[in-house]
Amino acid sequence: MPETKTAEILDGKACAAETRGGLKERVSAHTEKGNRAPGLAVVLVGDDSASELYVKNKITACKNVGIESFLHKYPADATQEEVMKCIKILNDSDTVDGILVQLPLPKHLSESEILEAMRPDKDADGLHPYNLGLLLTGKPGLRPCTPAGVMTLLDKYGVKLEGANAVVIGRSNLVGKPVALMLMQKNATVTICHSRTKDLKEVVRNADVLVVAIGKSKFVQGDWIKPGAVVIDVGIHYTKGDNEKSVITGDVDYAAASSVARMITPVPGGVGPMTVAQLLANTVCSYEKRLGLN
Ligand code: GUN
Repeated sequence: MPETKTAEILDGKACAAETRGGLKERVSAHTEKGNRAPGLAVVLVGDDSASELYVKNKITACKNVGIESFLHKYPADATQEEVMKCIKILNDSDTVDGILVQLPLPKHLSESEILEAMRPDKDADGLHPYNLGLLLTGKPGLRPCTPAGVMTLLDKYGVKLEGANAVVIGRSNLVGKPVALMLMQKNATVTICHSRTKDLKEVVRNADVLVVAIGKSKFVQGDWIKPGAVVIDVGIHYTKGDNEKSVITGDVDYAAASSVARMITPVPGGVGPMTVAQLLANTVCSYEKRLGLN
């Protein structure tokens, strides 16, 4: 019988726990010397259930490493002025080191105006144009959480990026564009694919490292994947399966892909926990910088 191989799991849950452990030690070393705790303000507008769950997880994670969190919750019909006023107050607050505006915002709000109103040194999500500019030019700064979390995971598992063909599916400011820049900075040859890409399957077939952030459940099929590739699945989808049971899937057909790939992230337990760990890391970095503790 032919041997069926299964890809090694890139365990984001374990890797994130390790990052959190390090952050917890760093925070307690500072607070034991009499410094205040780091503070993260989370702005949540509307009642999207997925966003509410993500925010709840982020707040719990803060608590576990000793970061104080401040939730600013607004109804779905909150005005641009109300949210902008909130950002201004948080910018000026002495106890807030990081600000996170959970995305997506309701359609009537200007996401770019709100992100740009944030002080770049409190931008815990690394999405302010100034921080994205630092990333583009290869300078240190606060990095977008999901892309930075992906890079930490690749590094942790010793994935060689130098000279590798890296393919990114998705071109969002949140994931696709920044992760492509980060892979390029590690000397990978990067191709960014999107909804208008021709012969997508053929491009994906060439990927030594594949990052999928397209937002469509099981979009990437097993036979698209190059044997031995490393697959990073950024997607997360909650659907009702048989017996009305909730089923969680990613952007990649996991069962099929894991018999072809060399390494793969599970969903859940792959990229998601890494995003949260990076948010905490960004907050602690901002805090240490503000208090002159580095
Ligand atoms: N929505 C989905 N992912 C993210 C993220 O990383 N940050 C923010 N602010 N919103 C998101």
